[in-house]
Amino acid sequence: MDENIISMPRIGDPAPEFKAVTTQGDINFPGDYSGSWVILFSHPADFTPVCTSEFMTFAKREEEFAKANCKLVGLSVDGLYSHIAWLRTIKEKIEYKGMKDVEVKFPLIEDITMNVAKQYGMIQPGESATKAVRAVFFIDPKGIIRTIVYYPLNVGRNFDELYRVLVALQASDKFGVAMPADWKPGEDVIVPPAGSCGVAKDRMEGKEEEMHCYDWFFCTKKLDKQKIFDEILVK
Ligand code: BEZ
Repeated sequence: MDENIISMPRIGDPAPEFKAVTTQGDINFPGDYSGSWVILFSHPADFTPVCTSEFMTFAKREEEFAKANCKLVGLSVDGLYSHIAWLRTIKEKIEYKGMKDVEVKFPLIEDITMNVAKQYGMIQPGESATKAVRAVFFIDPKGIIRTIVYYPLNVGRNFDELYRVLVALQASDKFGVAMPADWKPGEDVIVPPAGSCGVAKDRMEGKEEEMHCYDWFFCTKKLDKQKIFDEILVK
């Protein structure tokens, strides 16, 4: 693709394809991740404090995301040797908020050419023309972008929120429901508005179990937390 074009993928689009060199070897994206959820995220630069705090936090929680069938892939416009040196420094020297000896095992893409960053709208010149913003792409097992979140250079991400979005997307797919504001697993979920035939028919016949309607367009029901995790966690 023309590297001067800055594109902004959208929710519902197939994840743009690329081949890249990473700290864990070469990858073919998103093909290598088919069948898994994947979070592709960018950070502005190696050897910077906010990014270091984020990488330590994400690495510490990698297993939790893996159990929800989700792999992590990082990216910055630094080179491979910078990535390797930074990740080694994190492991050998940084102790932060009780985390130490943290090994980043997920791939970190080198993108000196900015080819990938530009394809994914991670270079936002108003913020920085030389560094990627903190972008997060949730990509489903079929390679479709399902959620995009962008943060600026100076605000670190909330990893509880990223995990919440991952679980919400999967639960929504499995149970055919939507999630209300601030939803967490175990809290009531939204029954899709009538229009989807099954839902409308069940609603009219009073078959929808334990549904609570605030008005005709706003109904919720219980969805057990255990039931969600039984469905989404890799056994
Ligand atoms: C940081 O990660 O600390 C950072 C990186 C780029 C600009 C500002 C802060």
